[in-house]
Amino acid sequence: MRNELDPDRMPKHVAIIMDGNGRWAKKRLLNRINGHEKGADAVRTIVQTARKLDIAALTLYAFSTENWQRPQPEISGLMLLLRRFLSSERQTLVDNEIRLNPIGQIDRLPQAVRENLEAVMEATANNQRMILNLALSYGARAEIVEMVKQIAAKARTGALDPAAITTETVADHLYTRGMPDVDLLIRTSGEMRISNFLLWQIAYAEIFFTPTLWPDFGEEEFVAILHDYQHRERRFGAIPST
Ligand code: FPP
Repeated sequence: MRNELDPDRMPKHVAIIMDGNGRWAKKRLLNRINGHEKGADAVRTIVQTARKLDIAALTLYAFSTENWQRPQPEISGLMLLLRRFLSSERQTLVDNEIRLNPIGQIDRLPQAVRENLEAVMEATANNQRMILNLALSYGARAEIVEMVKQIAAKARTGALDPAAITTETVADHLYTRGMPDVDLLIRTSGEMRISNFLLWQIAYAEIFFTPTLWPDFGEEEFVAILHDYQHRERRFGAIPST
C-alpha cells in the first residue's frame, strides 16, 4: 500500500486541462454531449477530492476561447450542462466552504449562464477553505492582453510608474490575483500541450500528462499523481539542496 500523502507537501494550487470527453463518447458510440455529461461527474469527484485533501486552489479548464468554434449544438449542450452543474452543486460548494470564481471572458457567456454563475458566486463569496476557479471562455493570451491594458491605463493616468512594474504587478492584474502560482498542472487524454492555459501562472508548475480520458479520471488517479508530485524535487531554477 502507498504511504499517506504528506500534508506539508500538498500543492497549493492545482490546475487541470480536462480533455477527452469527445473520445470517451466516441469509443462507446455515444454523442459528444454524453461524454461531457460524464465529464461533469468527474468534475464533481475531483472538486470533492481536492477539498478533502486541503488543496487551497483548483483551476479547471471548462471552456476555452477557441471552444466557441465548436458546432452550435455542442456549445449549447455544454452551456446547459454548466447551468445544471451550478444548480446541483451550489449547496455542496456552500457546505464544503468552497468559493466559486469564474475566470475568463465571462461577458461572452449566455445571460442564463451568467445569472447562474452570479448566484453561486454570491452564495459562496465568503467561503475560505478552497477556491474553485472555473475557466470559462478563457484564454491565457487574452488574459495577458487584458493585464497589459489595465497596467497601461494606470501608467497613462500616473497611478502607476512604469519603472516600478514588477512580476507582482503583473500577477496582481491577472484573473488569479492574490492566489499562489500553479504548483501542479494535469492534462488528461494523452495530449501533450498547454493550449493557452494559465501561461504566466504555470511558470514553475510540475506537469503531469495522463492518457486517461477525462470522464475516467477519478480520485484514485488524482491521489496517485499527488504522490508522484510529492516525490519530485522542485528547484525553481536553483541547484538541488543537499
Ligand atoms: C474536452 O473534451 C473538454 C471540454 C472542451 C469541456 C470540458 C467540460 C466538462 C468537463 C464538462 C462540463 C464542465 C463543467 C464544469 C460542468 P473534448 O471535447 O475536447 O474531447 P476530445 O478531445 O476527445 O474531443
